[in-house]
Amino acid sequence: MKVEVYEALNDNYNLANYDDAVKNHNWEDIEKNFSWSETGKINMAYECIDRHVDNGKGDKIALHYKDQNRQDSYSFKDMQIASNKAANVLKNKANVKKGDRVFVFMPRTPELYFSLLGTLKIGAIVGPLFEAFMEKAVKDRLENSEAKVIITTNDLVGRIPKDELPNLEHIVVVDDEVSDEYIDFNKEFEKADEKFDIEWLDKEDGLILHYTSGSTGQPKGVLHVQEAMVVHYISGKYVLDFKEDDVYWCTADPGWVTGTSYGIFSPWLNGVTNCIVGGRFSPEGWYEFIQTYGVTIWYTAPTALRMLMGAGDDVVSKYDLSSLRHVLSVGEPLNPEVIKWAHKVFNHRVHDTWWMTETGGHMIVNYPSMDIRAGSMGKPLPGIEAAIVDDQGKELPPNRMGNLALKKGWPSMMRTVWNNQPKYESYFINDEWYVSGDSAYKDEDGYYWFQGRVDDVIMTAGERVGPFEVESKLVEHPAVAEAGVIGKPDPVRGEIIKAFIALREGYEESDELKEEIRKFVKEGLAGHAAPREIDFKDKLPKTRSGKIMRRVLKAWELDLPAGDLSTLED
Ligand code: WT7
Repeated sequence: MKVEVYEALNDNYNLANYDDAVKNHNWEDIEKNFSWSETGKINMAYECIDRHVDNGKGDKIALHYKDQNRQDSYSFKDMQIASNKAANVLKNKANVKKGDRVFVFMPRTPELYFSLLGTLKIGAIVGPLFEAFMEKAVKDRLENSEAKVIITTNDLVGRIPKDELPNLEHIVVVDDEVSDEYIDFNKEFEKADEKFDIEWLDKEDGLILHYTSGSTGQPKGVLHVQEAMVVHYISGKYVLDFKEDDVYWCTADPGWVTGTSYGIFSPWLNGVTNCIVGGRFSPEGWYEFIQTYGVTIWYTAPTALRMLMGAGDDVVSKYDLSSLRHVLSVGEPLNPEVIKWAHKVFNHRVHDTWWMTETGGHMIVNYPSMDIRAGSMGKPLPGIEAAIVDDQGKELPPNRMGNLALKKGWPSMMRTVWNNQPKYESYFINDEWYVSGDSAYKDEDGYYWFQGRVDDVIMTAGERVGPFEVESKLVEHPAVAEAGVIGKPDPVRGEIIKAFIALREGYEESDELKEEIRKFVKEGLAGHAAPREIDFKDKLPKTRSGKIMRRVLKAWELDLPAGDLSTLED
């Protein structure tokens, strides 16, 4: 397949020379950016907020917040006071102590961020929950983590089965009218002291617990520790290219790791102005936000970009997006077609980044100073040793598909799976390689190419086919909005390729269209990669971070149970 290359535009980036940075890398040098490298006293909330106030940046805007009903901006000083007050409420009214698990289960409002930072100031471990979770998903997570406190709203509080959760001592509600059974956040916040003595921690103390679903079993509680900030900080500098005057917008919800590592920690560790947009997605709303606030760095996801693409080019032309200087994506394969479209309409290269909940931060990325090979995830973060290994942990040569693995021991690596150490250990081969569960290959120049989850790779008539390649091709067809591809067992070919397709507005399902799409892949990619079967669907099953859930497609097809669906969108 021909690879489109998008050249780097200038060398005025924080990481101008990748090869030198890799050669000279040393984690201890990066730690020297923080006073804890000398004092040994660490607290993420201090490093994100208070440190900037202490360094004379108290008046700088830390947060621009906007939703349908509310629009506010907060300086670092404002954030310091608000997080102190929240910490006092949680400590004095809800008895939160160092090491306790405190969950935030609410829409993206400033109070979510105040209470998350307040929790961290007490030295407690924060567990963010996505607001779309229903009772079962909430219960599984609070139960597994033995959570002590949850902060929520009147709309969501009914989904917390308190009677079945013996460890849950308090429910804090952020709302106008709060029932006496709960702690009234706004009322207590109003009265709370503006000063708070931060709990100083060790760099291996707990920071955040993110639950993530595997293909089997219960969701896993991935624990990250304070030291993760080293990766959050340096990837912010190198990959997001944070500079003093940037206005940064990460579109992810903090219920997912992107919304915390890169929606909270990374920008604020770098002292950058951060943006949070609450409420629902709308193309006009998004473009207008960029225009109004002069967003310079925009971190989003392929699904969002595909939705914007679906909304059409005309919408883009109504807005002035000239403030943008750097655009990035994460969470699922970034189709070359999307890069091409974004390049045309925004005049920006979209920089793909690869990582996962377990890695805590960026691992393989497209640096701004690097040429982009459309379809490639880029190269490892300096200090990260990546490789393609076989199932025994032996490194494979270039262009061979295998397990994408990372050499154990970077600062933001998960430290355990909560209450499930065997699961944690099962991620590693020979106690040396962390195995991601993704398959990929590395080309001669060291660029990594995503192929699929290990269990999604299709073997058809002796040929290995990565579903992503087929899906990318399918979405290039003008009728196709989204596509998910699976291997369907076949007595002759081992597996055949089956595609599930959601059509764009204005296209009708028909056998002719199926045939045309099949031919399009056959001619555009490879005969053996063309789906032998196609089903049209109104909508494809996706996680909130936008990944098409192929295992759900597979379950539809084979009439199997679909497994844990708690991360399914809607
Ligand atoms: C899985 C991790 C951490 C961001 C949110 C997702 C897939 C992630 C990419 C990418 C292709 C990607 C992988 C990975 N993924 N980024 N740039 N290209 N696939 O975090 O929910 O923990 O999922 O998302 O399959 O293993 P997550």
